Amino acid sequence: MASNIDTATKKEGKLVLCIGWTCIDIVNIVEFFPKEDADSKIVEYYWQRGGNANNSSTVLSVLGRACELLSVIAKNSREYDFLMSDINKYGIKTDNCVFVDKNQCPLSTAILSLETGSRTILHTLRDIPEITYENFSPIFDQSNKYSWIHFEGRPNIETICNLLVKLDGLSNRKEITTSVELEHPYIKSLELLLDKGDYVFLSKDYAKFRGFSDKNTAVKTLSNSIKDGATIVCAWGEDGAAAMLKGGELVSVPALKLENMIDSLGAGDTFIASFINATLDGLTLKECLSYACLVAGTKCCMRGYDGLS
Ligand code: FRU
Repeated sequence: MASNIDTATKKEGKLVLCIGWTCIDIVNIVEFFPKEDADSKIVEYYWQRGGNANNSSTVLSVLGRACELLSVIAKNSREYDFLMSDINKYGIKTDNCVFVDKNQCPLSTAILSLETGSRTILHTLRDIPEITYENFSPIFDQSNKYSWIHFEGRPNIETICNLLVKLDGLSNRKEITTSVELEHPYIKSLELLLDKGDYVFLSKDYAKFRGFSDKNTAVKTLSNSIKDGATIVCAWGEDGAAAMLKGGELVSVPALKLENMIDSLGAGDTFIASFINATLDGLTLKECLSYACLVAGTKCCMRGYDGLS
């Protein structure tokens, strides 16, 4: 699965910055998804650092890419030490993270079914705030440190849009690639991000919410809404992924055939991180899609992210 640039070169290179959510995933592995109101045993239980941007930064780091996370982190929470030691273990930079004193750490309870490979997530933000324009502002002056800036679509859509517009005005803009992720249908006005990033990542859930029943139609139709020169990418789980440069040809690849799916938690975040990694390595759009499907599929057949490289 190694890409064509060696890890040491990547680690010394410019950073990929991932902006979004940091939470604890309380993972429960079950033989079968439980019946409502039942009292059932679990196979295994553990904590994992989670949140889309967070997971993508973990995968980027495992793939040997220098990366930084920009998240709001609850400094006085009981989960803080766990989060920070795990972030440090992966060498993910947190120089611009926002450490808040009075808030709680967001939590997700994830139920992973060994029978179907499904991952059911129940999450709560608790009282953690979203990144503000001011929180991000120091990045503008340090922008030459970054090769790629990726935003997870969160409820602070207006802020994200304003930040991307401001990034577009930077004198070194051509040296930075930007991307946005549209995943959760319940986040209002996510569509405002469609014409903002150089790469637009759509989840299957979001595409279905927009009325599409396949990746190719979603990509072709929504490519009309992205900006000139941008590329839209849609991962469709068991049906692979598709992408299109605006006005270009549709590119579509199948998914990896999975023998033993045991953990699909964060598979979409893994896809995005691998796609970014491959694009920075200079692979073609089709190669990037194939590589991202390979890494995401491999991830589904193992617990967590270690060992993906
Ligand atoms: C996986 C994930 C989990 C988190 C949840 C938030 O994509 O980021 O780590 O709990 O989604 O929606």
